[in-house]
Order: sequence, then structure tokens, then C-alpha cells
Amino acid sequence: MNHDKLMRIIHDVFHPSLPRLGPGDEGSTRRALEMLYGAGLEGLGEDFRVLDIGCGNGAQTLHLAAMLPGRVTAVDDHQPYLDELVRRARAQGLADRIETRCADMTGLDLGGETFDLVWAEGSIFVMGVPQALPAWRSFLKPGGCLGFTELTWIEDGAPDECREFFAAEYPPMVGVADHLAAIAECGYDLVGRFTLPESSWLESFYDSVARRLETYEPPVDDPESEAIVERIHREIGMYRKYSRWYGYVFFLMRTRDR
Ligand SMILES: C[S@@+](CC[C@H](N)C(=O)[O-])C[C@H]1O[C@@H](n2cnc3c(N)ncnc32)[C@H](O)[C@@H]1O
Repeated sequence: MNHDKLMRIIHDVFHPSLPRLGPGDEGSTRRALEMLYGAGLEGLGEDFRVLDIGCGNGAQTLHLAAMLPGRVTAVDDHQPYLDELVRRARAQGLADRIETRCADMTGLDLGGETFDLVWAEGSIFVMGVPQALPAWRSFLKPGGCLGFTELTWIEDGAPDECREFFAAEYPPMVGVADHLAAIAECGYDLVGRFTLPESSWLESFYDSVARRLETYEPPVDDPESEAIVERIHREIGMYRKYSRWYGYVFFLMRTRDR
């Protein structure tokens, strides 16, 4: 299938009106921030700058803006997601603290701007962890922090059905130890990590995707669209069956002095 068509279907199923576009929840974002900056997040100044990469329709962007002082720059390459983010930010009185940029994360030109914190929930897969970690380090001030979530094997010995599904759907998927090695190699010190709770997949994300699929009507006689819908159903079923073996792990780190 050509790329444009695939993205049209993906953007239509993962519609801007969904509550969020990947697993996650407010409590996990707060827990991750508190691992980096301490309980209460006190002591951060008004000049605090956050870069939220692959922000989608802004679920975590809004939480970051509400929990932290300063400003958030939110980047995504799909303008309708950013439009929805801005709409929600206005409704929550956070619009003056968030700037959106429609840009491809693989070639971000930030014009020498530097950030205290780079954030990426459910989006580092676009570049891959080994590619993103060094690239994003250059956006950080010395001693700056990075938090990302990534689909990760959390226990050895996953059943064949599960391993075969991800070998086909997401070949770069690795275990926690591989991510920790990449983090150290790329000049970061790990501050903490935790696995997102099941509720952040099911209640926060998959339930609304499943509801969307109930009403989503793929173009008539379009086997390719139907195949994508089928794949998303399989992915949801996979998590319900095999969440013991894989999950989204939140990794929190600080840049090491060069
Ligand atoms: C799984 S969604 C996660 C969105 C959001 N962080 C969340 O958790 O709800 C991944 C996001 O990355 C964005 N994305 C994909 N490729 C991108 C690229 N090359 N540059 C910028 N954003 C991209 C998608 O548009 C989507 O919003």
C-alpha cells in the first residue's frame, strides 16, 4: 500500500477527537516527572522549557503544561492533531503556555533553542531509540532531562503467537536491558523507569479506539483498509492476552556531563 493511503487510514481511525493516541495517563506522566524533579515538582522556575515530540492531540502536552511552570513546545507532523491540541489548551486556559509546530521529528530545526526537558510519549518508535537518543540530546541544556515511553519486552519467554505478531508488526522491539544500554551509551544517566499500568492501555486508549472502530466505515470494497482495521483489532486482542510479557516502559534520564 502506498504511504499516503496508509497514513490517511491511520489518521482517520486514530482520529483527533480520541482522548489520546497512545497508551498513557495523567498519573503516569506525573509519576515520571516526579522521578526526575521530586515530589510536588517544586523548585522549577518560570523559564522552564519543555519540548514534547510526537505530541499528537496533546494528552500529555496538556498535563505537562498544567504540572510544570514555563512553556511547552509541542511538535507533531499532522496539523489536525495540533489543531485539536490548541482547542483543548484554550478550553483549559493553557493556550498561552503551549506553542505548536507542525514538523517532521526526524529533521527538527529548532534554531539553536535549548530545552530543560525533552518528552516523548509513544512516539520515539518513529525514529527508533538508538537514533533518537543522540539527536534529542542536542536539544537539551547541560544537565537537561529526557523522558520517553517505548513498547518493550518486560518478561522473557513470551508465547510464540505474541512474539510472531511483534516480529511482523514491530521488528525493532527489544527488552529493558537493551534500552538501558542505549541510554548509557548515548550519554545519559538513568534516573528511573516503570511500566505503564494496564489501565493506561485499556481504559485510557484501547477502549476509545475500539469504540471508534465500531463506527468507522472503511471505503467500500477496499481490502487494504479492512486489513488495517483487522490488524488494530488483533493488536488490541494481543494486549488483552499477553500484557504480562510486554508493555510501554517509561524511561527517565538526565544528560551526563560531556
Ligand atoms: C502513538 S502517537 C502518540 C501521540 C501522543 N504522544 C499520545 O501519547 O497521545 C504518535 C504521534 O507521533 C506523530 N508522528 C509520527 N511520525 C512523526 C514524524 N515523523 N514527525 C513528527 N510527528 C510524528 C503522529 O502524528 C502521532 O501523533
